[in-house]
Amino acid sequence: MAEDLLIAKGTKEEQYESLIPQLQGLLDGEHHLVANLANIAAALKEQFGWLWVGFYIVRNDELVLGPFQGPVACTRIKKGKGVCGMSWLKAETLIVPDVEKFPGHIACSSLSKSEIVIPIIRNNHVIGVLDVDSIELNDFNVVDKKYLEQIIDLLSINI
Ligand code: SME
Repeated sequence: MAEDLLIAKGTKEEQYESLIPQLQGLLDGEHHLVANLANIAAALKEQFGWLWVGFYIVRNDELVLGPFQGPVACTRIKKGKGVCGMSWLKAETLIVPDVEKFPGHIACSSLSKSEIVIPIIRNNHVIGVLDVDSIELNDFNVVDKKYLEQIIDLLSINI
């Protein structure tokens, strides 16, 4: 398929609805983990322009930084720490409207104001998380949760 992403305008729903089939096309026939995580991060960043979009992967009982787009970030996060570690511990998506009000939030960038973290669950285990940060307060809601969880489900591979 063409490597150029078609960037949609419109509501958040319309943007996700345009992006998801394109992501499906990018992931189809490619099973390499790093390649797929890298393209998901790049496509989300390109479509939505968020500050930071990326993955942390569980390795030896820690989250380790994976493919991402945005400013450099902390490389390791322990279970239960920060939004990412809490999403891992609870095995659920966390929407944080104001990161300063989240106890234990890990500030990789002082520009980040709100955040959403989606756990990647395979065989009942969290094997990584997708983390998205915005410079706007309250930038994420149930629409993002629904579609970002769908995007994670496109990943057919086990990490
Ligand atoms: N804010 C995250 C840390 C990762 S960075 O935002 C890229 C957290 O509290 O877990």
